[in-house]
Amino acid sequence: MKDIEHESGVYHVTGEARYIDDLLVNERLLYGRVLYSKVSHGKIIACNIDAANELPGVKAILTHKDIPGPNQMGPVIHDELVLAKDRVTFIGQAIFLIAADSEEIAIEAEKLIEIKYKELPSILSIKDAIKKGKLIQPARKIETGDVDNSFSKAENIIEGELEIGGQEQWYLETQIALAMPGEGKELLVYSSTQHPSETQALIAEVMNLPKMEVEVQIRRMGGAFGGKETQANHVAIWACLLSKATGCPVKVRLFRDDDQIMTGKRHRFLMQYKAAFDKRGIIDAIHVVQHTDAGAATDLSMAILERAMMHADNAYYIPNMCIVGKAWFTNLPSNTAFRGFGGPQGMACMEQIIDRIGRMLKKDPADIRKINFYQNKKRNRTPYGQKVENNRLEPIFKTLLKTSEYKKRRTEINSFNANNEFFKKGMAFTPVKFGISFTTSFLNQAGALVHIYKDGTVLVNHGGTEMGQGLHTKIRQISAMELGIEIKNVKVNATTTAKVPNTSATAASAGTDLNGMAVKNATDKLKDRIGKRACEAFNEKLPKNGKRTKATDIRFANNTVYDLAHPKRKTAFHNAVLDAYFNQISLSATGYYKTPDIHFDRDKGKGKPYYYFAFGMAVTEILLDTLTGHFTNVRTDILHDVGDSLNLRLDIGQIEGGYIQGMGWCTTEELKWDDKGNLLNHSPDTYKIPNIQDIPKDFRVAVLKGYPNAEKTIRRSKAVAEPPLMLAFSCWLAIKDAISAVHEHQIEPMYSLPATNEVILLSIDDLKKRISL
Ligand code: MTE
Ligand code: HPA
Ligand code: MOS
Repeated sequence: MKDIEHESGVYHVTGEARYIDDLLVNERLLYGRVLYSKVSHGKIIACNIDAANELPGVKAILTHKDIPGPNQMGPVIHDELVLAKDRVTFIGQAIFLIAADSEEIAIEAEKLIEIKYKELPSILSIKDAIKKGKLIQPARKIETGDVDNSFSKAENIIEGELEIGGQEQWYLETQIALAMPGEGKELLVYSSTQHPSETQALIAEVMNLPKMEVEVQIRRMGGAFGGKETQANHVAIWACLLSKATGCPVKVRLFRDDDQIMTGKRHRFLMQYKAAFDKRGIIDAIHVVQHTDAGAATDLSMAILERAMMHADNAYYIPNMCIVGKAWFTNLPSNTAFRGFGGPQGMACMEQIIDRIGRMLKKDPADIRKINFYQNKKRNRTPYGQKVENNRLEPIFKTLLKTSEYKKRRTEINSFNANNEFFKKGMAFTPVKFGISFTTSFLNQAGALVHIYKDGTVLVNHGGTEMGQGLHTKIRQISAMELGIEIKNVKVNATTTAKVPNTSATAASAGTDLNGMAVKNATDKLKDRIGKRACEAFNEKLPKNGKRTKATDIRFANNTVYDLAHPKRKTAFHNAVLDAYFNQISLSATGYYKTPDIHFDRDKGKGKPYYYFAFGMAVTEILLDTLTGHFTNVRTDILHDVGDSLNLRLDIGQIEGGYIQGMGWCTTEELKWDDKGNLLNHSPDTYKIPNIQDIPKDFRVAVLKGYPNAEKTIRRSKAVAEPPLMLAFSCWLAIKDAISAVHEHQIEPMYSLPATNEVILLSIDDLKKRISL
């Protein structure tokens, strides 16, 4: 051990050592391209890359044989190949990687590669997967009370199926990574990833490198929405393979259409439900089987299914409930995280049940909702055993009922509908209760590294990533507030695995909760050190007979460090910092946080998986043209619970954005595949995301005031990013309400999610047929 060789001796003699003058010299950026399967299931019986290899400007063409480590990039379960071998299991699966001098040459090369497939039968729908019995992982169950007993004596029972569609994340920046080879085995990877540590880990595995050789960095993503929680790993790995093979920096950027074809989406679901309730509409039991389409690999499907199961109750107390979850294999790209992470799908079914009960009992669904809400002292335990504490349903419901003038507008809508044959109005009032924390408990941890420089400016590193949600802004605010300095003196660094290791994904809306607390932990340490020194300094200059300053009296505010008991003893923050430096005190600290007091036992289906819940409610009114199926969102009122907001503008932005994104999922965003498994709408001209015309004509968004979050949260704020997406159920069910008005709410309309024009028209048509019968 003692006389090991010089760490860079070999580089010195081979000329590989990098000095400043060597950086970015002779670094020719190459462009990577991914050739993917054009069949959904098949054997590769022949391929020829010779012609492509000969094309001038082509620098490398790689197959699965060129992978240094295991051919495996599944993030949780190892069932996902980096590059296909002799069999392909979905359209969009990577087979070859090409590196070339330009994107154009790479595309030309791709055209010259010949692949012959022998097509095999594929599974392309949930129903087909059920028929063939192909579960991707064992089924799961969460159960409480005695469902069978409740059904056996129920006054009313409804049963049904609800089809819920998937959703394309539609981040504006498509998947992208840039891999740069460094000295020796080093790889520096700029990756548009929500989860730099996992990207680093998988690159290290596939490249057969220790993690210390791989640095993953991300300044910001151009949107992610869950689509870059695991699937950013793919392009990053592919870029690294090409970079290692060529010795050059390689950028892999997916074209929009390729991105939509190759990457996973929100999971579609098929819900089979049965509910028992009394004549008032109080629900006693629900049995629901949640079937979901996992795609061709597990990815995050089981965690997503788990969250769907844990949100099957939404905001309602169901004493007897049985939730069965089944994730099915299909020959489609592996579905993945998308804002809400299964929660929206679980909740949609519950809202459909409530809506049906209202219609059946001829009562306003809002009243049915109210009598089933979780209560404070009793009727407050979820099917998975967690008590709903700090319940905000009642204050939100009460306030929104008033501010939205719900009852008055209900009467107006009824008279509008009585007087109009072809135009119908509809309205719905829907709640959201969303659990905050990763349900995989150990993921609830975060780290930070805070540096204070001699001029008093602060550089904050933390493990979270910025994707537009404003995390870095909130972290900057938290740092400045904690240190009592101006925001202009704080900068948040690009996220890098070299500064903060072993982080969790920025996901589950917990970015600020976790990283904010880790940063606070670091600034607390720094304040302690600087404060102790300031205290000493005050005491060194103690006035005659002056009382000594106590370290516990030191405060940081208004860019100064001062003694609370003797406010005249003060010094500018930057002077206190400089003084600490001269006294040889470290001005750099790590921070760490783990969410306390949460646990979940998967086998039993019980525990306290969430640190707290976020709540919100929305009322949406729509106008429906029953002849075309076109609807207009006339007005949306939202009241959402963000605790003590850290940044109201950002929070409102997340609420509005979440609602609109949810509205897209609930209405116009429909994924269509042909019977070969080709995605038919893989560009914005055929896949309809909301645009400026789709936002509510009158959009009133407010946050619940006067209800701070639990004490041990970052400045008593609440996670805000995902929950508002599900407020869009108010739009989805307002449309159903308008359809139902076609026959004075006498018949339950056929319905599914999304409610596209087609779904709406077919439902109206079906209603009319049933009326005439
Ligand atoms: N907002 C913007 N503008 N862009 C995004 O990609 N992703 C959403 C949400 N809001 C997203 C967004 C998702 S899926 C999550 S989990 C959270 O932001 C993550 O950020 P947070 O935990 O810091 O709130
Ligand atoms: N939400 C988002 N991402 C996740 C979760 C979750 O609950 N669990 C694992 N990854
Ligand atoms: Mo968000 S779906 O948890 O990345």
